[in-house]
Parts: sequence; structure tokens; C-alpha cells
Amino acid sequence: MTKIITLGSINIDLKKSVTVDRVTQLSQTYPWFPSRGETVTIGKTQPQLDENIEEQYYGGKGANQAVAAAMGESRTQLLGMVGRDENSYDLLKHLQSKGVDTDAIQQVTAPTGVAYIYVEPDGSNRIIVVPGANNQVGRQYIDDCYRTITTADYLLLQNEIPIEPVHFLLKRLANERTPPTVILDPAPPQGTEKLLDHDVISYITPNEHEYASLSEHLDAFSGTIIHKHGGGPVTIEGEQTGVLSPPAVETVETTGAGDILNGFLCSQLAEGRDFHEALRIAVCAASLSTTDVGAQQSIPQMERVRSLRNDHFDWISMQLRYL
Ligand code: RIB
Repeated sequence: MTKIITLGSINIDLKKSVTVDRVTQLSQTYPWFPSRGETVTIGKTQPQLDENIEEQYYGGKGANQAVAAAMGESRTQLLGMVGRDENSYDLLKHLQSKGVDTDAIQQVTAPTGVAYIYVEPDGSNRIIVVPGANNQVGRQYIDDCYRTITTADYLLLQNEIPIEPVHFLLKRLANERTPPTVILDPAPPQGTEKLLDHDVISYITPNEHEYASLSEHLDAFSGTIIHKHGGGPVTIEGEQTGVLSPPAVETVETTGAGDILNGFLCSQLAEGRDFHEALRIAVCAASLSTTDVGAQQSIPQMERVRSLRNDHFDWISMQLRYL
């Protein structure tokens, strides 16, 4: 069976629902406060935002993508780091229950990563990440996992672990005869412009904010750019081209929707679907996830995804036939 490896962040998400006025106030008080759809990484301690947290979920872009790939029915392993406090959240047990292989996840002496998620009434989010254990991923860990990584057919990357070991890994993979197909989510975008030079990356999946911040560097990228626009059409540029309109759904919360698109896209490519069909399925999975709260908690079952894919895209092709 085709194998997917995700190397990335593992977080506990702490969610707060906020009004538009409160968000405006926070943005004025803290110049670094994320804009809509943006993830900002801050230092070692929790932000002093005087907010009561309402809900707690499993998150982290790496973990979200791994769980989505597993729910897309692919063999999936997650690589990354958690704190020794992980058992107070039952984090590894949770990942295993979703079908993710956690054997190579390392426990380190640092708190598990935490993300503070501010959700507005329209479901959009602003994320502040305190990386904790995620920041301890370094060359040594990549070295330790390297042989395992080369057994993968697909590799999912994001930008919530230190970037230097990721460069180190991509350079090494370029020397492999059959490296895994690499899908990079440049989120958050800071520093990822340099990753675009690695020819071993086949796909990048920026949202509007990440696309804008990388725009000057995108010409250097030789693969396919999947440009996500929240609930709007996904545009495909570069090696492959196209536009894909997602189905309309009743959005409650968008946290993790981009990750869910990546995880399902990868699982469907791994299942042997052609790129456009894999993306249709991924877009439906991401749309469905916005109808529920939380990141991993909102990942839909494959059966629901298939059914929405058939209803939505078959309807579109029927309309096109009658034009
Ligand atoms: O993309 C959503 C994720 O970003 C959240 O789960 C949070 O943990 C941050 O990593």
C-alpha cells in the first residue's frame, strides 16, 4: 500500500470565539496580532491576551494533515515532537485512534505546542502558535528518521517546525533515485521562499495570505501551485493549470480546512487518482470540514466526501454539457 509521511507540528488548539469589534481591538493593541486566515508564530510563552479559552481541540498543521490523509484511507505516518505532557491530552492515543502511525514521534522536555485560535462569527480564524516541543525538531531527528522518510511515496510538509532541518532533508532527498513526491504547505510563509528552490517539491498549497507574501518568488518554483482562496475557487498554476469551484456549504468554522485539503489531496494522489480528480475530492473534504468546529474533529468520513464530490462535480459537468 502506498505510504504517506507527514513531518510537522503537533499542537493543542485553544479556541476563543470573538466578535469583530474584539478582533479590531486586539489588532490595535498587538501589532503582531494575525490578520484573517493568518498564522503567527510567537516566542516561548503564552500570549498575554487576557482571553478565556472556551474549547480545546487536537491540532497542528502537521498532525491535521496526517489525520486527514489517514481518513482519506491512506497508510500514514506522522513525524514530529511532543512534550512529555502529551499524555495529559492523550495526544498520541488520539492520533493512533485515527489510524496514524506515531511510532517515530519523539517526546522531549518542552511543553507540547499550543495554538490560540480566534474564531469570528463568519467562521474565519486567526492563529497564534507557541511552538514548544515542535521547535526541537533538528538535524539529528531528521537523520534518525531519514531511512523511514525514504520509504514514503508522498511527503507532506508545512512550516511550523524549524526550517533549517527541512532544507537539510530536501537537499538529501534530491540525491535519492526515487524520492517521495513532496507537497509543501507554506504556512506560515516566513522563510519558505527559500524552500521553493528545491526541485524535489512537486506541489505548494498557499492560501491568499501566503500567496501574496510569496508572490515575488513563485516564478522560481518549477512545480504546481494550488492557490487556496478560503471558500472561493481554488486556482491551479504552474506545471498544471485550472480552476475548481468548491461546493457551497454552511460554514461554521474554517480552522484546519487548508490542512484537510492537503491531507485528502495527498491521500487521493496516493490512491492513484489523477491530479484534478484528487483535487476535486480534497476540495469537498475541506468544504465539509468547515461545517463543524475544530481542526481534526471536523475531518469528514470518506463516504460523505465521496457523496459530496459526486453531487457537486457531476452537477457542474452536467451544466457544462448543456451550455
Ligand atoms: O491550520 C490550522 C492549524 O494551525 C491549527 O490546528 C493550529 O494548531 C495551527 O497549527
